[in-house]
This record gives sequence, structure tokens and C-alpha cells, in this order.
Amino acid sequence: MVLLQLKSQFLDRLTPLYDAEEVARFFELLLNAFESKKRIDLALDPELETQQLPRWYQAMEALERFEPIQYIIGETEFFGLPFEVTPATLIPRPETEELVEWILKDANAASLSILEIGTGSGCIPITLAKQLPHAQVTSIDVSTEALAVATRNAKRNAVNVQFIHQSVLETEALETCFADQFFDVIVSNPPYVRHLEKHEIQPNVLEHEPHLALFVEDDDALLFYRHIGQLAQNHLKKGGKLYFEINQYLGKETVALLNQLGFQGIELRKDLFGNDRMIRCER
Ligand SMILES: C[S@@+](CC[C@H](N)C(=O)[O-])C[C@H]1O[C@@H](n2cnc3c(N)ncnc32)[C@H](O)[C@@H]1O
Repeated sequence: MVLLQLKSQFLDRLTPLYDAEEVARFFELLLNAFESKKRIDLALDPELETQQLPRWYQAMEALERFEPIQYIIGETEFFGLPFEVTPATLIPRPETEELVEWILKDANAASLSILEIGTGSGCIPITLAKQLPHAQVTSIDVSTEALAVATRNAKRNAVNVQFIHQSVLETEALETCFADQFFDVIVSNPPYVRHLEKHEIQPNVLEHEPHLALFVEDDDALLFYRHIGQLAQNHLKKGGKLYFEINQYLGKETVALLNQLGFQGIELRKDLFGNDRMIRCER
């Protein structure tokens, strides 16, 4: 089939479900992923035929089920680097790029030791390892599937990150894992969405992204912050920094928790959408 004809089918099927601009963007992303072509290629040669018709139909069906385009293509970009993503990994968000940028702006030491909690695709530790080639970067996750994806992403981006299968909630095992280790930086974007906030979440996220990465119980929303804060009290060097991405509705509560745990210089920052989204503090 000629690609221009396929495009008109694509637009007819998907514009009732999505913004027209978004549908056009999906088409271009798939054109690039499936056919290695750009929009201009179609303009230059209106007779171009698709080589991948079954894949296009599968993708249209997946988009009709509101599967995220990143899972359909199998990859996304974070901080200009390519990352494989699967339904076992959260799709990296622009807010998280801002958190990484904050760490990079602060990082002036030649060789930092960095621990990240909650690997997912590996977007945070891999980007830090890429941008700070002398840093030693370790990252833990409870999901073996996510760790497998992150391991491939580290290889793809030619960096060395030590990935460890470990829950941050198992205090004893965690202490054994990091016995006698002290880090300059600990960073985490842990699960922080409360079930009571579910109604705000788009179906493409709610029905397709891993709930293990997203949700916490309504009555203990700061569970991960408490455990990671405690870990940081035991394993950050004096003056070492802890960075968190946070729930936009729990800025004050998260600051209060970190105060209570004994951190200094706590700074709450907004993301590019104007929401309270990240915190830095010092041991
Ligand atoms: C919000 S996602 C963040 C993923 C990635 N760092 C990012 O920013 O895109 C949270 C991650 O924490 C992991 N996680 C959930 N419970 C955990 C636990 N008990 N211990 C360690 N990691 C956990 C999830 O598997 C998920 O990969």
C-alpha cells in the first residue's frame, strides 16, 4: 500500500480518539520507526509504498486501546539518549529530566559515588553515568524485568552502572547490601501516586504503565520517602545530597518528613508545569 493512502486511514481511525496534532506526531514516529522515513520523504515521493503493513495495523489497534506510543515503538528519548522501554518500565518523564539536570548542575566533584533507588528503564543512573564519566553509579529496583531492560539500556548507551535486585523496603537486607558504603549522592523517583489521585490519570498511563512503579497506599503515601530518607541518613557521606522527585500535592509533607529525619538545607522546587516536583537536601 502507498504510504500516503495508509496515512489517511491512520488519521481517519485515530482522530476521533486523539488530538489531530498528536495523531500526526504518532504517524511521524511510526514512519521513522517502521520505515526509516521522514515526512519530507512522503512529500518528495507520493508513490512510496509501506514495507510493514501488518505492523502499521497492529500499531493502530494498540493506539485504539490507548497503549503509549513509546511501548509500541519500544523506545523513547531521555536527556537526548535512547532508552528501550517495555510495559515493565515507567516511561521516563520530562520532570525527571529536570531532576537529573539539578544533580548535574550541582555535581562539581571529579568522581562521585551515586546511588539511585527505583531503576525503571535506567534513565536516571544511565544519564548520570553518561554525563559524569568518572562517577560510580549503583541502582536498585525490586523488578527483575525492569533491571533487565535497564541493563540493556546501559550497554546501548555505553556506560557502566551496577544494577542490584533489592527492595528498598526490606531494611535489613538493604543494610547488608550497602554495609560500610557511603555515597555522595542518593537520588530517587519512587512510586508516589495515591489511589485517590487515580481519577486524574490518563487511561494510557493507568491501563498500561506498571502500577508497581506508580502507586502507593493512600494512608502511607510517603512510605518510600521514609525508607529512602533513613537509608540516606545511614549511607550518605556527611554533606552528601539526597534528591527526590515528589508528589506535587505532598511538597509540604515531604519537606516535614525530611526535617524530622534530620536533613539540612531542604529545598523544594517546581517543575516546568509549575507543580512542586523535586527536593534536594543535605545530610
Ligand atoms: C516512578 S518509577 C521510576 C523509574 C525511573 N527511575 C524513572 O524515573 O523513570 C519507580 C520505580 O521504583 C521501583 N520500585 C517499586 N517498589 C520498589 C521497592 N520496594 N524497592 C525498589 N524499587 C521499587 C519500580 O519498579 C519502578 O521501577
